Amino acid sequence: MSNTNACDVLIIGSGGAGLSLALRLADNAKILVLSKVGLNSGSTSHAQGGISAVFDKNDSIESHIKDTLAAGAGLCNIDAVRVTVEQGKRNIEWLKEQGVQFTEKQSKNGETSFHLNREGGHSHRRIVHTADATGKAVSKTLIERTQAHPNITLLENHNVVDLITNKKQGTELRIQGAYVLDTAIDKVKPIAAKIVILATGGASKVYLYSTNPQISTGDGIALAWRAGCRVGNMEFMQFHPTCLYHPKERSFLISEAVRGEGGKLILPDGSTFMQDYDAQLELAPRDIVARAIDNEMKKHGIDCVYLDISHKPSDFIIEHFPTIYRHCLSLDIDITKEPIPVVPAAHYTCGGVVTDLNAHTDIQGLYAVGEVAYTGLHGANRMASNSLLECLVFAERATADILDILPQMSLPLALPEWDDSQVSDSDEEIVVSHNWDEIRHFMWDYVGIVRTDKRLSRAMRRVELLKEEIAEYYGTFKVTSDLLELRNLVIVAELIIRSAQSRKESRGLHYTQDYPETDDSKPAKNTILTPKQ
Ligand code: FAD
Ligand code: SIN
Repeated sequence: MSNTNACDVLIIGSGGAGLSLALRLADNAKILVLSKVGLNSGSTSHAQGGISAVFDKNDSIESHIKDTLAAGAGLCNIDAVRVTVEQGKRNIEWLKEQGVQFTEKQSKNGETSFHLNREGGHSHRRIVHTADATGKAVSKTLIERTQAHPNITLLENHNVVDLITNKKQGTELRIQGAYVLDTAIDKVKPIAAKIVILATGGASKVYLYSTNPQISTGDGIALAWRAGCRVGNMEFMQFHPTCLYHPKERSFLISEAVRGEGGKLILPDGSTFMQDYDAQLELAPRDIVARAIDNEMKKHGIDCVYLDISHKPSDFIIEHFPTIYRHCLSLDIDITKEPIPVVPAAHYTCGGVVTDLNAHTDIQGLYAVGEVAYTGLHGANRMASNSLLECLVFAERATADILDILPQMSLPLALPEWDDSQVSDSDEEIVVSHNWDEIRHFMWDYVGIVRTDKRLSRAMRRVELLKEEIAEYYGTFKVTSDLLELRNLVIVAELIIRSAQSRKESRGLHYTQDYPETDDSKPAKNTILTPKQ
């Protein structure tokens, strides 16, 4: 029986970042992986388009770097971009060695190679994929491989409440473990660890409409912030241009690869509009396409626009996009014959917990890998399919660092038990669900694709009230998963609004009507927030 009260490395999150790190470390350490709900509950298993890397003989590392920098609108950290792009190819080959079956093609002389898709911002075909369900293939393989490893223990339904550090005045902050709610038995216990990894994914569920699964409530960002870590670039929340618009389906993505294969964005009368916004048309970076759609919807007073791929042969569409085809057909939309109704929706958190190039945070022994992290790779706007790439590359980089420091790290002698003697069972669950809805509504209305100073101040006033109410509730009642997520969401909302308020320009994903231009009069600056100690 494995020990679930202590481990060498505690990994919070079982997506692409968490599981690839677990596999890489497992021959040298005892690993405990926690997931708030099921093992494939994160964004990873929903990923469609694929993973970008340089495989095409006409492509180059320099070209991938150039495209990433262009999408990032002046705020990418060039070192982060370079290491990610340079280590991309070998990480995809590593995934293939683990057993992921990517879509391949055969040349005339019988050689097989990866079939490469094209997506927005990329000047070459460089997206390695498994049809239109890449994340499912990656997730399935990583789960199978980690389950089979004797040094890895995987626990579902374990929600991390808070990180534990040696908080002492004048000493360097060091990680000691985490308090974890076992939701099957409603009990919180401490887990001791020499090293802790945040691999908790993004925060897009802070918005009413999102492509993300339920778990994306920014927990890792809030956990790290409360523990004392800096958080960067939170104003850059990415809205994916094409989420399916349907009353029965709020968060199904229509992959950018559909536009990569010639899908056209059209208005209800069939006319195209991207020519009015960018020379790259449908394959302009996401911020541009999402804002164009938002603008057209407001201009014409329409609920959605349409994405049309029906001019391509049916066989081609079904072969390339089997998941999207089947899902739409189940909702009576035949994408081989008719356009798909789409709207933009919150999709990706470009900012996050500040790390160095080895994924290490401000707290000794605490790492952040994947969407939770701010590594500097994405700048003001992430380019398509660079996210799974970041998960893999930074997991590999963190591994080397962790194996280096692990021998010097020790387990804490004892951790204080969780004290819930002063709290009772909640008799007001409605407060939690009401506040959840309220945050997601005002974030969508006031802190969405187009912002103004006035809307941001309105949102901030609401955050301040909610923070007080949630703190009072947290101090009175026993914790539940919904309450923990709400407590984290309000912090994330505050960090996004504060970051947006401090940026007096429009850049990448942050667009404000009060400062519609990019300020090129001085060097572009990242927004780094530091918690009060
Ligand atoms: P996730 O995969 O989101 O996993 C997070 C894990 O953390 C989950 O296991 C969750 O249960 C756990 N967790 C969270 N909070 C807690 C807590 N408090 N306690 C315990 N556990 C917790 N990117 C690409 O590069 N290419 C694509 O094609 C692509 N397509 C996408 C399509 C969709 C629909 C979506 C939503 C995203 C897509 N992305 C894509 C983005 C990419 O999938 C994600 O950024 C990436 O998968 C994040 O991986 P992760 O491991 O960081 O987090
Ligand atoms: C998509 O398939 O459009 C999503 C790709 C991504 O988010 O990187």
